[in-house]
Amino acid sequence: MKRIGILTSGGDCQGLNASIRGVSKTLYHHYGDNVQIVGIIDGYRGLINGEAKELSREDLSGLLTRGGTILGTSRQPFKLMRVIDEDTMVDKVAAMKENYKKLKLDCLVILGGNGTQKSANMLSQEGLNVVSLPKTIDNDLWGTDMTFGFQSAVDIATQVIDCIHTTATSHGRVFIVEVMGHKVGWLTLYAGIAGGADVILIPEIPYDINSVIRTVQRRNEMGKNFSILAVAEGAVSKDIAALPKKKKKQAMAEMVYPSISYQIAAEIEEATGQETRVTVPGHFQRGGSPDAYDRLICTRFGVAAANLIINKDYGKMVALKGTEIVAVPLSEIAGKLKEVPPDCEIVKQAKDLGISFGE
Ligand code: F6P
Repeated sequence: MKRIGILTSGGDCQGLNASIRGVSKTLYHHYGDNVQIVGIIDGYRGLINGEAKELSREDLSGLLTRGGTILGTSRQPFKLMRVIDEDTMVDKVAAMKENYKKLKLDCLVILGGNGTQKSANMLSQEGLNVVSLPKTIDNDLWGTDMTFGFQSAVDIATQVIDCIHTTATSHGRVFIVEVMGHKVGWLTLYAGIAGGADVILIPEIPYDINSVIRTVQRRNEMGKNFSILAVAEGAVSKDIAALPKKKKKQAMAEMVYPSISYQIAAEIEEATGQETRVTVPGHFQRGGSPDAYDRLICTRFGVAAANLIINKDYGKMVALKGTEIVAVPLSEIAGKLKEVPPDCEIVKQAKDLGISFGE
């Protein structure tokens, strides 16, 4: 009897359950009743504390469209993984290895984003059989063209911009839609273009507020009495971006506004006199059912992960390269962030369209 553990870690997103289904359905198809799926509860925390449950076929049915994760998730920062917990004195890495053994696992399937993949790589180097899947609405995982969750989040953020468009037009207002993404701007870039934003601000392209204001004023001169800005949570001004790391952190911590969007809104309103509002869809972007694209890619990732297990090809993350699903060694991707290259084709095309990046 094969025993395969599955855990979901980090911020949730659409498609986690669809991926779990893809892995288990393929394993059942191959091994029949000779496989037991073991769900680890609440991500790495469950593996550290030995919290797991054997899942039946019924538990794993009806998952294709279900949002969230049936296993629960938690954030366990990679940088603390090797730090002994002062209160409990628990050695987390040793505990995870011990529980893997206690649960008699043949392999552990890990679904997660950047930090999760770093920990997956560590566990693989510690000798556990690990296979992983790329999850995050941020699409910032190195080694894959696409992460699951991203397209569903793009759909939601785009719908928000669509709705904001109608009210912005009615009132002749400037609207900022703050899109998730502290470190990278893929989600803001895609939703911004799909939603027809006039300005897109992302962390990778620091903005000059005067340039943003000029865009709004130019639109007014052209008779367009409203403007839509898609702004990433992590958008940063050129002044702040130029600061050394420590000072930059301090400047951000000292910001008097709840987020950068509110500061930009205040600056636009002051310079133009035009009413400027902020909409923050927040975790809405991670909720609900996966869209058709994510259902498909989660299923394909799941099948590919199961095949890695069947072939005992461990220490890899399944990934999308062009239109093919491939497997990349965890050691190659761990710790690398896939940012938006400021000169990439999609940014150039957005600029050709007249979208401002506030440069
Ligand atoms: O990594 C996914 C993500 O949704 C980011 O886009 C966002 O900045 C962050 O998680 C929010 O984290 P939390 O759910 O812990 O508030």
